[in-house]
Amino acid sequence: MTVNDILEESKKYIMNTYKRLPLLIVKGRGNRIYDRDGREYIDFVSGLAVNNLGHCNPRVTVAFQKQAQRLVHTSNLFYTEPQINLARLLVENSFADKVFFCNSGAEANEAAIKLVRKYSKDKGNGRYEIITTYNSFHGRTLATITATGQERFHKGFEPLVPGFSYVPYNDADAVEKAITDKTAAVMVEPIQGEGGVNVPDEDYLKRLRKICDAKGILLVLDEVQTGLGRTGRLFAYQYTGIEPDIMTLAKGLGNGLPIGAMLATDPIAQAFTPGTHASTFGGTPLVCSAAIEVIKTLTEDEMLLDNCRRMGKYLTEELNSLKEKYPQIIRNVRGKGLLIGMELSIKGDDIVQECIKKGVVINCTMERVLRFLPPLDINPIDIDALMDILSEVFSSITGQ
Ligand SMILES: Cc1ncc(COP(=O)(O)O)c(C=O)c1O
Repeated sequence: MTVNDILEESKKYIMNTYKRLPLLIVKGRGNRIYDRDGREYIDFVSGLAVNNLGHCNPRVTVAFQKQAQRLVHTSNLFYTEPQINLARLLVENSFADKVFFCNSGAEANEAAIKLVRKYSKDKGNGRYEIITTYNSFHGRTLATITATGQERFHKGFEPLVPGFSYVPYNDADAVEKAITDKTAAVMVEPIQGEGGVNVPDEDYLKRLRKICDAKGILLVLDEVQTGLGRTGRLFAYQYTGIEPDIMTLAKGLGNGLPIGAMLATDPIAQAFTPGTHASTFGGTPLVCSAAIEVIKTLTEDEMLLDNCRRMGKYLTEELNSLKEKYPQIIRNVRGKGLLIGMELSIKGDDIVQECIKKGVVINCTMERVLRFLPPLDINPIDIDALMDILSEVFSSITGQ
């Protein structure tokens, strides 16, 4: 079958929920992916902030290959060591006391929303509402699209789940004003990822923490995209000097294996008891064996996180030089670590396509924000290669 035949088969058999790029990927190694014709691409997407340690990371791969030969799944009716070991590692390296495992970011947020409601119900305070922000993204289940402060994700799925309200991002005063006697929690991303790589002011989370403490409500951080080293710390909240009550993770946690986690402090976690929440596949030995190696790789020494911070700075500087050269189409460069966005005054889809033709894969979110999410061990040579390609593409658009 030709590549075109296969792409046609995809249309025939797979539901039409993605606007896919016309690439058939068959192999990945480190920060490279390869199509069926053997063409190599530098990967500045990392499976959407998932393959933080690179494709087929040897340490992760060996761990889950070994585990695959021992035990893949038993259900959560029983105890398994990889799950316990992973939970311990997450607790030891974060604010949290307890972990709930699931399979995706949406499920982690769904679990967080349920935990907020159950905790409040147990306290008998009549609170259940959650304040989230415009341009947020929290997932695709019914509760998490409702939590997502973007109407385009709501359309066609009404009636939505009751109990959510929205305020502008990076506006702590707006949160304070929106709190009512029904508010149970505030839920935000430390940096909005899908919403356009929006980095809030340095004191934003600190102010939210203060407001939540003063009003006796919970602070939930969605670190599905910012977590696991992406911003140059294990978790983005670690830059802020505050700790959340609940945090959600997924994406980079399994470096490609599907795993999500919802972490909480003990008093809050206690609201979940047998029967209140569950997942058949949540925290299987297979995915946990991979995630253990991810956490160990990121915490055993600082090299990778240090590289992420340094390369993030370098890439940001280079993108800013490009902005100076093409101010008519590049509006803004922003981000932290290797979660970087470049806002354009034109749509970005064609630029993504042109970059792919030239051998580098990048992403575009919110139509006009080019997003760069390379594996955390990216090097200056590959960044320079990206910059050469971007320069060529911008030069051909502007004729400059
Ligand atoms: C911040 C954030 N939360 C939740 C999700 C949903 O994660 P998943 O697609 O694994 O359900 C995403 C996905 O992009 C995300 O960026």
